[in-house]
Amino acid sequence: MTQALFSPLKLGALKLAHRVVMAPLTRMRAARPGNVPHALNVEYYRQRASQGGLIITEGAQISPSGQGMPATPGIHSEEQIAGWKDITRAIHAKGGLAFLQLWHVGRISHSSLLDGRLPVAPSAIAAPGNAFTATFERTPFETPRALETEEIAAVIEEYARAALSAQRAGFDGVEIHAANGYLLEQFLQSRSNQRSDEYGGSIENRCRLVLEVARAVSVVYGANRVGIRLSPFGVANGSGEDEPLPLYTHLIKRLAHLNLAYLHLIEPRASGAGQAEVDHPNVPFASKLFRPHWPNVLIVAGNYRPYTAAAAIAAGRADAVAFGRLFISNPDLPERARRGADLNTYNRATFYGGGAEGYLDYPALEVSIQ
Ligand SMILES: Cc1cc2nc3c(=O)[nH]c(=O)nc-3n(C[C@H](O)[C@H](O)[C@H](O)COP(=O)(O)O)c2cc1C
Repeated sequence: MTQALFSPLKLGALKLAHRVVMAPLTRMRAARPGNVPHALNVEYYRQRASQGGLIITEGAQISPSGQGMPATPGIHSEEQIAGWKDITRAIHAKGGLAFLQLWHVGRISHSSLLDGRLPVAPSAIAAPGNAFTATFERTPFETPRALETEEIAAVIEEYARAALSAQRAGFDGVEIHAANGYLLEQFLQSRSNQRSDEYGGSIENRCRLVLEVARAVSVVYGANRVGIRLSPFGVANGSGEDEPLPLYTHLIKRLAHLNLAYLHLIEPRASGAGQAEVDHPNVPFASKLFRPHWPNVLIVAGNYRPYTAAAAIAAGRADAVAFGRLFISNPDLPERARRGADLNTYNRATFYGGGAEGYLDYPALEVSIQ
């Protein structure tokens, strides 16, 4: 019943043995100070690696100003690159493939994480809701500082440098995080972008930064090792475009010219980005809306289980499916999907921060059936 998940797939320059992808999952367990990936994280990814399976890592901030939560790992210091190297080695040792998710949070941050400086964003508009402080407290988002036009080239350069660092850390490719209300999505959407320069206003202008970042990262890695994640219907972190179709249709058509390895779409029915049990019924699949404009691999995510994922692939609605919460609680999710085995349930209380509990202690099949 889940066979459709287990046929090989050419993904840009790479070949996957199956289509059960690990979605990017922030867990806030990097070592501090320095926000460095360490032994705890190596073991977590090692547990979740599988022969020919793709892991997309948690978002890694491309620069100090790209950080939005405490203990999220970065990809901008030598120490961090060395930490990630241990992770790619562990994933590769099990025959797996690893893409690093490149992340800049923009306004979804707090000055306590930024040496007292305000977060940066397309416009000086505060996100609704609460930020994480450096000490894991919650406090209302501050009004960010709007980036000057002249500063934007440096942000693009940070993405390119982070891609180079990911390459040095042994990643097979990178995923550009342009979803869930973070910096790139803030530029895309009119709610957070009210600029009057060439990066704001028209759809074409709001898409400019994402396209320039995609081009810059592709120069580093080769477009066939670059993916991009979008959440056209997302409402996470104060995002939400009133009319997403014209914006995202334009963007995806333009991205298609860049010949990236894959497009990773969060489904309209899962607009909560996994932060809550959101499942909107009776909405179209992402693939129905956007697949006609996208010639390469399409990965979808959001509220999938192995059977529904296999059905989506069998019906041609996706080429691969990324699993988030179920990959947290099932380190051997591909094997469980292959066997049609029961799945462990996840504990939301241990998603963010902490140590091994709720991170390394979900049992694999061999252990759980003893
Ligand atoms: C704890 C947690 C952390 C997440 N971190 C990220 C992240 O770093 N980058 C990202 O693009 N999405 C992130 N997401 C969203 C997931 O990748 C995924 O899209 C979402 O959970 C829906 O898929 P699911 O129903 O299979 O869990 C996160 C979700 C959860 C639950």
